[in-house]
Amino acid sequence: MSAKPARRVKANPLRDLPLAKVYQTIEPGPVVLLATAEGGRANVMAMSWHMMVDFEPPLIACIVSEGDYSFAALCATRECVIAIPAVEIAETVVKIGNSSGRDIDKFAAFDLTKIKAKRVSAPLVGECFVNLECKVKDTTLVDKYGLFILEVVKAWQDPKQRHARTIHHHGYGRFVVDGERITLKSRMR
Ligand SMILES: Cc1cc2nc3c(=O)[nH]c(=O)nc-3n(C[C@H](O)[C@H](O)[C@H](O)COP(=O)(O)O)c2cc1C
Repeated sequence: MSAKPARRVKANPLRDLPLAKVYQTIEPGPVVLLATAEGGRANVMAMSWHMMVDFEPPLIACIVSEGDYSFAALCATRECVIAIPAVEIAETVVKIGNSSGRDIDKFAAFDLTKIKAKRVSAPLVGECFVNLECKVKDTTLVDKYGLFILEVVKAWQDPKQRHARTIHHHGYGRFVVDGERITLKSRMR
C-alpha cells in the first residue's frame, strides 16, 4: 500500500500591505467636489471618501474632516452640492483640494461657475457633468468619524458632457481615469 503523498504547503507568496496604504487600494468612487454656502459665502472642497448607501431616495455617505472649512458650513446649513468633475478639469480639482476656503474664494480663484441650485443654498458647479443637491439626513456618526449621510433631493446633468470620464484618487497625487466601458449580464441593478 503506497502512502499518500503529503500535501505540499506552498510558502505564502503574498507580501505585507501596510495598513496605512489600504485606502489607496479600495477607494471607490470618483473624486467629487462638495460645495457649501454659509452666510452667502460659497465654498468648495475635493472629496474622494464617499459611497452610495441607498437607491431612492439616493443616500450618500461621505467623510468630511473636521479640519476642513467646509465642515462647519455643512454642519450649520445641513445642505450641500456634490458636483462630479470630468478628467478635463482634474488639475483644478486638485487645486481645490490643496487650498482652503478659509484663505481664498475658490470659486473666484479657480474660475468656477456658480449656478443657483433649486433646493439648497449651496451653488451648483457649472463645469461639472453631474450636480447633486443634498440635505444632511443623518449626523449620528459625525462626531466619531466625520461621516455624514446625505440625501440627494435634486439631481442635474450636463447634456454636453455625455461621455465624461471621472478621476479616481489612489493617494499622493496619483489618479486613475475612468476607462473602457463593458456590459455584462449582472443581476445587480
Ligand atoms: C483628491 C482629493 C481627495 C480628497 N478627499 C477628501 C475627503 O474625502 N474628505 C475630506 O475631508 N477631505 C478630502 N480632501 C481634502 C480636502 O479637499 C481639503 O482639505 C480641502 O482643502 C478642504 O477645503 P476647505 O477647507 O475649503 O473645506 C481631498 C483632497 C484631494 C486633493
